[in-house]
Amino acid sequence: MIRTRIRDILSQTQNWDDVLIKGWIRTIRHSKTFSFIEVNDGSCLKNIQVVADESLNNYSEIQSLTTGSSLSVRGNCVKSQGKGQDVEIQAGQIHIYQKAPETYPLQKKRHSDEFLRTIAHLRPRSNKFGAMFRIRSRVSMMIHSYFQDKGFNYVHTPIITGSDCEGAGEMFRVSNLNSSPSGISDFSQDFFGKETSLTVSGQLSAEMFALSLGDVYTFGPTFRAENSNTSRHAAEFWMVEPEMAFCDLNENMDVAQDFLQYLVRQYMERCSEDYSLFSNFVDKDLEMTLMSIVSGDFARLSYTDAVEVLKNSGRSFQYPVSWGLDLQSEHERFLAEEYFKKPVFIIHYPKTIKPFYMRLSDDQKTVAAMDLLVPKIGELIGGSQREERPDILEMRMREMGLNMEDYWWYLDSRKFGSVPHSGFGLGFERLLMLLTGVSNIRDVIPFPRTPGHIEF
Ligand code: 4AD
Ligand code: MG
Repeated sequence: MIRTRIRDILSQTQNWDDVLIKGWIRTIRHSKTFSFIEVNDGSCLKNIQVVADESLNNYSEIQSLTTGSSLSVRGNCVKSQGKGQDVEIQAGQIHIYQKAPETYPLQKKRHSDEFLRTIAHLRPRSNKFGAMFRIRSRVSMMIHSYFQDKGFNYVHTPIITGSDCEGAGEMFRVSNLNSSPSGISDFSQDFFGKETSLTVSGQLSAEMFALSLGDVYTFGPTFRAENSNTSRHAAEFWMVEPEMAFCDLNENMDVAQDFLQYLVRQYMERCSEDYSLFSNFVDKDLEMTLMSIVSGDFARLSYTDAVEVLKNSGRSFQYPVSWGLDLQSEHERFLAEEYFKKPVFIIHYPKTIKPFYMRLSDDQKTVAAMDLLVPKIGELIGGSQREERPDILEMRMREMGLNMEDYWWYLDSRKFGSVPHSGFGLGFERLLMLLTGVSNIRDVIPFPRTPGHIEF
């Protein structure tokens, strides 16, 4: 007999009769002749109630079972007499895989996120993290659906790379050499014959494919050795990066808005059970925040105007606000959360605080950049129109001190039918934080990697 997922039984899309379920005990209580066992198999938030009675041949063993124990139950699915559930399983046969000891750390009481991080190998068994990681899985697929339906091609960009896309020097080195006491300096001895790192972004490779296939996207892991131990930065995170040929900055923003609104709508509709856990118990404002995203167009504001808004806000910020300085998370959140009360694109940043590949504006001072700031998170998306003019690109690369040899192919791509093109990167973990109201990035990643932490 084939195992039935509890999700399928509880959704009652068909009439179940004789079923076989397999899972873990969430709670168990006993009367003299009955045991009520709440079983969860990870397929959905809800448990199913199993009623076991003394007619079972291993009933005495069942009576000693504990939270966390694993079992299979074969029985009849019947209308429940008790409150709280529509159906329950009248057990005909129970097989015990393993009885969990009383030291099982996930007892019925609510545990703190901090504590659950210390048992990351077990936390997906909790309601909150089970819901989180089901959402993570489904939203991943929604991302693919969005782009695939629109005819974008998915490109697997390399994870090991010889170039620093963002130019921020936050690379993790990849090497198979044992470093000598004086350190590694001669990379000709190294595996690839030159210095290599884990990628910080798939963009440069994606651009090559956009200039061939038109519309493409990458969705994969990226790595940054940022030493900022914040609740919004991880050393290993996933990024979605669409790249579109024949696309300017405005069209780029149109796509980013449509994409984010699609994801939020789909999420609220298709993850409704797991979503309700977060809107009821994690962030009471969650629905309001999500509605502010789907209910209209996002604001668009130049960096120069944003600096004025911040200066005139009457707020005292921890970090200074002045034309030429980067916006800090407190500034970003003020703009999205308090000033606009919805997502806002900030465009045309000073060239000095953005990477080499962004298109230089006519004022020679700013570039065609766009960051999307959202309530609760701050920066969710970073993108730009790319510099497609070979002479200006080369000038900018020299200005910013890039090693031209490493990027010869990137420059070369501007020589043979170069076209205006644009793209952006959306941080997948920050999206999940936005969708769930969870405030620490460590709690949306199965096994988070942050400075000093790589347990599990
Ligand atoms: O703004 P970023 O650095 O942009 C790029 O990497 C571009 N190459 C993307 C592109 O145009 N194709 O990063 C994009 C997004 C940020 O807005 C943020 O959401 C997320 O990636 N991000 C991080 N998320 C978690 N931890 C970190 N350390 C992150 N750094 C960036
Ligand atoms: Mg950025």
